[in-house]
Amino acid sequence: MANLHVIDHPLIQHKISLMRDKNTGTKEFRELVSETAMLICYEATRDLPLKTIEMETPLCMARTKIVSGHKLAFVPVLRAGLGMIEGVTSLVPAAKIGHIGLFRDPQTHESVKYYCKLPDDIAERDVILVDPMLATGNTACAAITELKRLGVKNIKFMCIISAPEGAARIIQQHPDVDIYCGTMDEGLNDDKYIVPGLGDAGDRIFGTK
Ligand code: URA
Repeated sequence: MANLHVIDHPLIQHKISLMRDKNTGTKEFRELVSETAMLICYEATRDLPLKTIEMETPLCMARTKIVSGHKLAFVPVLRAGLGMIEGVTSLVPAAKIGHIGLFRDPQTHESVKYYCKLPDDIAERDVILVDPMLATGNTACAAITELKRLGVKNIKFMCIISAPEGAARIIQQHPDVDIYCGTMDEGLNDDKYIVPGLGDAGDRIFGTK
């Protein structure tokens, strides 16, 4: 059963409120996405396994812990997911980064993959898929399905704002995938935008509108 983690830390709530403001400009918005992604990633990596090593400090030998286990890859969903990469890699600089691009077929409304470039050893890595807005969950589920098809066994999904519909979709289709979000909004409008939301995350990160 998928675990839904709403990381409602005060700093995350504050930053999301600033992002919601339609008067927040591109530069500030981009910085807020990155900072919020870093804070959510801190929680999403809480269960990383550790191993004990011996280390010589300036005073003595010490038994101390470092992160072990599978290597990590972050996979942003193009294009808005790119805005979260600086923040998450500031916490895990050694992680590799793959990219998945999906668009919505206007006829079938299905997600269609148009780009996929992942590390060669992706099947051996734990993957954190990142996309700021979890709306219907179509794109997220299609990206997760693609990662599983390529052999990835341990996937987490990280977003900044989730709609209940999107979270429910992942929980139903991919119950093994943990979801980490900064807040759970009210729902979707007729155009499938999250309300109250923050608008089109891609446009706001890249200043395309
Ligand atoms: N994608 C966005 O960028 N915003 C939404 O509200 C929903 C999907």
